[in-house]
Amino acid sequence: MIRSGGLVAFPTETVYGLGANGLDAEACAKIYETKGRPSDNPLILHVADYAMAKQAAAEITPMAERVLAAFAPGPVTVILPKRDEVPSKVTGGLATVGIRMPDNDVARALIRAAGTPIAAPSANRSGRPSPTTAAAVFADMDGKIPLILDGGPCRFGVESTIVDCTGERAEILRPGAVTREMLAEVLGELAPPLVFREDEAPRAPGMKYVHYAPLAPLTLIDAPRGKIGAAFRAAVREATAEGKCPGVIVSKETAEEIESLVPPEHIAVTGSAGDLSAMAANLYEALRSFDDKAATVLFAETVEEAGLGVAVMNRLKKAAGGRIRFYN
Ligand code: TXA
Ligand code: MG
Repeated sequence: MIRSGGLVAFPTETVYGLGANGLDAEACAKIYETKGRPSDNPLILHVADYAMAKQAAAEITPMAERVLAAFAPGPVTVILPKRDEVPSKVTGGLATVGIRMPDNDVARALIRAAGTPIAAPSANRSGRPSPTTAAAVFADMDGKIPLILDGGPCRFGVESTIVDCTGERAEILRPGAVTREMLAEVLGELAPPLVFREDEAPRAPGMKYVHYAPLAPLTLIDAPRGKIGAAFRAAVREATAEGKCPGVIVSKETAEEIESLVPPEHIAVTGSAGDLSAMAANLYEALRSFDDKAATVLFAETVEEAGLGVAVMNRLKKAAGGRIRFYN
């Protein structure tokens, strides 16, 4: 299907991808159409090995070389100058291309069998939470694509770290499971964390769009440890008094504190408090779990913005459209 210009959804260690032959502009056009994705938002190319990376990138810079040696295959994408063979449809007109070597046997077997780099954004409809199970892909893509490869739930659950390796210092364009700390260990100093400004064109074009949004509006609840339960009780009581039906996305510990206020089907537990890996792996499924429920507003617990917590908070803030309530 990939070789004949079709679309195939497949698992990776981060999220499910919606794949097409990355060197075939017409095939890639189908990705944009199927997702409802804006055409200026570039795709990343998934490769099985270095040889294939060189089919897409004009140069593997020494910086990229170090990142790949340390973390590939794995949840990282390097931005490099593109080769002419990569259609500008794939890169949204940019002179660079994102390259990623997924650490997932099904993904690697698919890329090898196709014999071409596979362009793949997350396999969700544009604006929706990324899919981390085949069932979530099915929910968004039923009737639109001919095939989903089911590789079970994704291990990391947040999309790859994107590192721009074309400049003087490496720059993280999107945080992920390969953290700033991990990158600094192999690269030394990195460019300072990106601050997104309304009046500037974003460096990773995709970062400007509404993302990961659940169907009911989401607000984040930020409170010091020890006061989280009380903060959730206050938020839930207030929403209920306003005639709303709240759903919550919380740690196991917080869930125990609000059991009497929220029906069990409106509580999505992401794992133990402070377990960032579990939070990352379960976040998108938790957001999607409310798709077919009666909750009209959602509240989610925040995590500390360090290590993997940076990626988790990045996705949570986007899902919430920036709405955060602070309790002291
Ligand atoms: O983990 C992942 O990266 C998943 C799986 C399927 O591999 N893919 C994924 O793709 O998250 P997507 O399309 O949802 O996100 C790719 C991001 C977008 O924000 C896009 O703007 C950015 O990468 N991007 C792609 N090419 C770029 C380039 N040449 N320069 C800057 N940003 C780029
Ligand atoms: Mg995406």
